[in-house]
Amino acid sequence: MYGTKTSRVVIIGTGFVGSSYAFSLINQNITDEMVLIDLNKEKTEGDAMDLNHGIPFGYPTKIWAGEYSDCKDADVVVITAGANQKPGETRLDLIEKNVNIFKGIVGAVMDSGFNGIFIVATNPVDVLSYATWKFSGLPMERVIGSGTLLDTARLRFLLSDYFDIDSRNIHGYIIGEHGDTELPVWSQTRIGSELIYSFMEKYKPDGKQEDLDSIFVNVRDAAYHIIERKGATHYAIAMGLARLTKAVLRNEHSILTVSTLLQGEYGLNDLYIGVPAIVSHNGIEKIVEMELADDEMEKLHHSANVLKSAMAPVFN
Ligand code: 2OP
Repeated sequence: MYGTKTSRVVIIGTGFVGSSYAFSLINQNITDEMVLIDLNKEKTEGDAMDLNHGIPFGYPTKIWAGEYSDCKDADVVVITAGANQKPGETRLDLIEKNVNIFKGIVGAVMDSGFNGIFIVATNPVDVLSYATWKFSGLPMERVIGSGTLLDTARLRFLLSDYFDIDSRNIHGYIIGEHGDTELPVWSQTRIGSELIYSFMEKYKPDGKQEDLDSIFVNVRDAAYHIIERKGATHYAIAMGLARLTKAVLRNEHSILTVSTLLQGEYGLNDLYIGVPAIVSHNGIEKIVEMELADDEMEKLHHSANVLKSAMAPVFN
């Protein structure tokens, strides 16, 4: 189904996130074809023209403003459409509006005969990934949410800055809701091969737990800080979505913190939430269950409970 044939990504929603993602795809040679869909057809036409004119500087990619029928031959459909947070709004405040928008979108994609993988980025992403799984009827491995992929990148960046170590050598995860109840898994965070606390003792003896705590608070609240300043976040999430798309199209078996359906893992069931999982051309290949410290497990359960109560009025 994937691999040797021409690869096609359909992007639904070409606002800040969708168009930054499209830009990342052509700069990284990730797909052969890219289709843009938005309520505002004129904007997608303009975007397609503008992106096409960049192709001589990037990689050959066929790009057009399309229709839902183009989803039939898509390997990946990425949904970034929907309302986004206004200053002061939480991600969970968007549930009702965006679940309704998703009913229409997912229905239209499935009506095309789509048989690929959904990647969901719209917030609240855990709830909308669950909604996409339910509305599409696809197996859970073929509906992936961006989850805490971005939060994990924010953590790696801030730790890299704090320790003055390349962020690619920081191995740590943010898990849980992509939102206010997410948590860092300090007990399993490593720099190179060293656990973070022993690394700190050896190489940054003036370092303190309070510094790590404030790094986490900055990760958790990053979107609020950016939205206050510029109204939206889009570059980093777009790059994260490109990374995820590459893992699928190139069958990379990458471990990424994505929103996926838990079925007993971590003692949780019937919800989408961010945890590390192996991503391949099958979508979610396997959830890699981490050994959490007791307080981390408690926080993850709290996060799951908050998501479940927010979802209850919409899905019951
Ligand atoms: C972010 O974390 C708003 O969810 C978006 O940047």
